[in-house]
Amino acid sequence: MPPVPRHIAIIMDGNGRWAEARGLMRIRGHEAGVDAVRAVTEECSRLKIQQLTLYAFSAENWKRPRLEIELLMQLLKRFLVAERETLVNNDVKLTAVGRLDALPSYVLRELELSKEVSKNCRTTNLCLALNYGGRNEIVDAVQKIAREIAAGRMKPEQIDEAMIFANLYQPNMPEPDLVIRTGGEMRISNFLLWQISYSELYVTDTLWPDFKAEHLHAAIADYNTRERRYGGLVDRLKAPAT
Ligand code: FPP
Repeated sequence: MPPVPRHIAIIMDGNGRWAEARGLMRIRGHEAGVDAVRAVTEECSRLKIQQLTLYAFSAENWKRPRLEIELLMQLLKRFLVAERETLVNNDVKLTAVGRLDALPSYVLRELELSKEVSKNCRTTNLCLALNYGGRNEIVDAVQKIAREIAAGRMKPEQIDEAMIFANLYQPNMPEPDLVIRTGGEMRISNFLLWQISYSELYVTDTLWPDFKAEHLHAAIADYNTRERRYGGLVDRLKAPAT
């Protein structure tokens, strides 16, 4: 089996367009998107990918019509209930990042339960980004550090990259190796800003509800052709030793 990325993060875009192309309400696209979430999560667990992070609801998504937000939240709740057992059977641990307090209590309740029952699963960490914004995450980390300094427990000179990382929502998450965006837009949309500094990007025109295991394989195959240099040089480019 070819090597797989440790962490894949996905911007699941195109649900609305998928529905509109079929003359359906946008929420039907989100419903079809849940099937893609299920398929891709199962495949990641089968491929033993350590982490899958899905951008399920951004901090900016509150600007959508109230009805769409409400239906999305209900869909999320239904997913959490319906998939709980399957996640555990596939050894998938569920976690979440974002300003979770602002989510409706009926979602939070199910989220907590899914986190609890799957906490010992080890193959894949499925992390849902919910009411998530990359800038918010950095602001929240800076506030935590500032409180430590104000309390005299830390000095400003101690702040370094590792410390900022340690104060992000999920300090143990490996940095994403591969960020996939469906729906063709060439944007990051405030997703995991700190963590994706050196991630490989893969944008596909495939709309999220159409994205299934074979599309994931294509993204991974493309990733496996990349040379990751992290600002350095690959051997081929290094000057010959003198
Ligand atoms: C973007 O598509 C997608 C979202 C804002 C929501 C993603 C939600 C799901 C896939 C379903 C629920 C999630 C889980 C984890 C169960 P868009 O509506 O912006 O598409 P468009 O660009 O075509 O309008």
